Amino acid sequence: MLNKGSIAIDGPSASGKSSLARALANKLQWVHADTGALYRAVALSLIKASLAEATDNILCKHIKDQTISYNIRDNSTRVLLNGEDVTDILRSEEIGRTASRISQIPCVREYLFHIQRSLGEKGEVVMDGRDIGTVILPDASLKIFLHADVRTRALRRLSELEQQGIPGNLRDIQNDLEERDRRDRTRSLAPLIQAPDALLLDNSHMTIEDSVKWILQKLPN
Ligand code: DC
Repeated sequence: MLNKGSIAIDGPSASGKSSLARALANKLQWVHADTGALYRAVALSLIKASLAEATDNILCKHIKDQTISYNIRDNSTRVLLNGEDVTDILRSEEIGRTASRISQIPCVREYLFHIQRSLGEKGEVVMDGRDIGTVILPDASLKIFLHADVRTRALRRLSELEQQGIPGNLRDIQNDLEERDRRDRTRSLAPLIQAPDALLLDNSHMTIEDSVKWILQKLPN
């Protein structure tokens, strides 16, 4: 088994990245780092300060005064915003929408780059996001680019919401995912694209266990 290596998993919203990365990290006894949670923490901070719609300048000034960091607990990352663990309140649709919008702003990506890179450099990390294989960990031992068709992803998101007791509409969720995909793929800075050396994994019809097995077979010794 690899020592000090890292695995980068990139893919669109609701493609199952985080569940897969968590399962893989558990199997390897590595740390799972969910990078979307960092963008969501920035979004939460802006929403709290009523700055979600502010100009880039104002927004960048606000972020400079915030402290966002990772705290490792039980093989996974918790996200601290000004010292407070906000991990469990980051999954709402409002925060997701704001995170998607502000993730296109250069000062946000620059601010979060260092947090991700320094954790990744420690090794024994499975990191999931949009630009991990292309920007954050270009030297990762293994890079996976996840694909799942948009209807499958919408159904997964709907079931996630239902499990939390939140009502959702399949059509609206699918439209929202398509809009997020478009934004993530077409932004000029760190767009969601498959790194040339990443392996494509279509998990539309695979369980998490199948995907973990598939990836473990590809890990270099
Ligand atoms: O994976 P997620 O839904 O938690 O991510 C929230 C938003 O953060 C997503 O719309 C795009 C952005 N993001 C990003 O730009 N780069 C990453 N590495 C992770 C997330």
